[in-house]
Amino acid sequence: MTVQERLIRPRSRTHFIAQALAAAPGTSVTIMGWVATKSSIGGIKFATIRDGSGYIQIACKKDRVSPASFADFEAVTKESAVAVEGVVREDKRAPSGREISVTGFWIISLAEDWPITRSAVKSHSSFLYDKRHLAIRGRKASAVIRIRSEIVYAAFDHFVKNGFTLISAPSIVQNAVEGGSTLFEINYFGKKAYLSQSAQLYEEAALAALGKVFIFQPAFRAEKSKTSKHLTEFWMIEAEQAFAGQKENMDLQENLLSSKVRRVLDRRVEELKTLGRTLKECPLPFPRISYDEVCELAKRKGLALEWGDDIPSEVEMAVSASQSSPLFITDYPLSARSFYHMTYPDRPTVTESADLIAPEGYGELATGGRRIEDYNLLMDRIKGQNLDAGSFGWYLELRKYGMPVHSGFGMGVERVTRWLGGLKHIRAASLFPRTMTRVSP
Ligand code: 4AD
Ligand code: MG
Repeated sequence: MTVQERLIRPRSRTHFIAQALAAAPGTSVTIMGWVATKSSIGGIKFATIRDGSGYIQIACKKDRVSPASFADFEAVTKESAVAVEGVVREDKRAPSGREISVTGFWIISLAEDWPITRSAVKSHSSFLYDKRHLAIRGRKASAVIRIRSEIVYAAFDHFVKNGFTLISAPSIVQNAVEGGSTLFEINYFGKKAYLSQSAQLYEEAALAALGKVFIFQPAFRAEKSKTSKHLTEFWMIEAEQAFAGQKENMDLQENLLSSKVRRVLDRRVEELKTLGRTLKECPLPFPRISYDEVCELAKRKGLALEWGDDIPSEVEMAVSASQSSPLFITDYPLSARSFYHMTYPDRPTVTESADLIAPEGYGELATGGRRIEDYNLLMDRIKGQNLDAGSFGWYLELRKYGMPVHSGFGMGVERVTRWLGGLKHIRAASLFPRTMTRVSP
C-alpha cells in the first residue's frame, strides 16, 4: 500500500448509525464508531459497528475497496475506533435489516486485545466491575444507563410542568439528616464536616423563596452492609412543597413515578428487550397499606417485626413481592423515623410519612412525609433525640420566620433504575458504582 493510499482520509461523518438505519437503500454514508464484533463468511468480511446511536452490520469485499482499506479491515480489532464509508443496502439477514456495503474503511484508533473475555469474567466475580470503565460499552450496561437517563429526564419534565424550581445544595455539610451511623466524616480545614445524606433541610429553606422545589444530586451513606440495594454514593431526586401535606406529597410521588415508567416504556423498548425486562404501566392511585397492617402481615407469615422497629428487609421483601405495581406503606412509628417527621395530633407516636415500595421484591424507592413546621416541637424533638441543637440552628430558625405546613420526599435514582431494568444488584444501575468494597474505577 502506498503512502498516498494511507493518507486518503475518510469524508467527515455524514450519518449517525441510527440515521443510516433509516436511510433509503442506495444512500452513500460515512459513519464513525467502534467495532463491536468482527467475523467473516466465505470471502466477505463482516463487522458490527456501534456509535451510541445504534448498531449496524457492515460487509467488506476485497474487490470493492482500496488495498489500504482492506488491510485496515483485516487488521482491525474489537473495540477499535473506525470510520466506514459505504452504501446502505437492505439485507434481511442483517440483525437490523440493513447493512452497509463498505467502499472505504479506516482504523482511527486500534484497540489492543479486548480483555473482557468469557473466561476472564468467569475467573473472578469482581472482574466486570474492576473493568467497569471498559465493560460499560456492552449492550446491557448501556441499556441500563439509557433507562436511567430517561428516568431523570421524566422527573425534570414532571417537576417543571408542575411549577417546581430546580435548586442545588451543598454536598459538604454539618448535619446528619438520616442519623449519624451512615455519615461520611471529612476533615474540613480542621473542623468536622460530613458528606450530605440528603438535601432535604436545604430544600426546606428554599421553600419560602420558591414555594415548590426539587433537586437532583448525589447523596452519601457510609452503609456498612453489603446488600443488593445499597450504594455508598447514589443520586437522589428530592422534592419539597410549601402549604402541602402528606396527601399531596404522595400524589406527587405516584404521578412522578408513573411518568418515569411511561417514559421508559415509550422510549426504551429496545433497551428493555436487551435486558429481557417486561414492564407494565402502573395504574393510579397506588395502593396504600399502613405500617400496622404490615405488622399483621408479618405476624401471619411468621416474620419478626416488633411495633416501633424499622421494617426489616425480609418483611419489606414479602410486601413488595406480593405486589405487581408500586404501593405506599404509610404511618410509620416515630421510633423508626428521623427527627424531622411530623406526628398525628391524636397519635404522637405515629408519623405522617410513607415509603414508596416497588413491586416484585425490589423494595423501597422513596421515603417522604410531612415535616415539623413548629419551632418548639422541633426543638423538643432534636433535644429528645440527643442531637446537637447548635448544628441545627439555621434549620430551627426557619421555623421563626413563616414556616407553613410542608412535605416532601427523596427517591433514589438507582433504586428506580434497578426496578425498571429488572436488575439483580443496584451496582448495575450506576455507571461507576461506589459500595463498601469499591471506590475504583
Ligand atoms: O429513605 P431516605 O434515607 O430518606 C431521606 O434521605 C429523606 N431525607 C429524603 C427526603 O425526604 N427528601 O432516602 C431516600 C431514598 C430511599 O428511599 C432510597 O430510594 C434511596 O434514597 N437510598 C439509597 N439508594 C441507594 N443506596 C443507598 N444506600 C440509599 N439510601 C437511600
Ligand atoms: Mg427510607
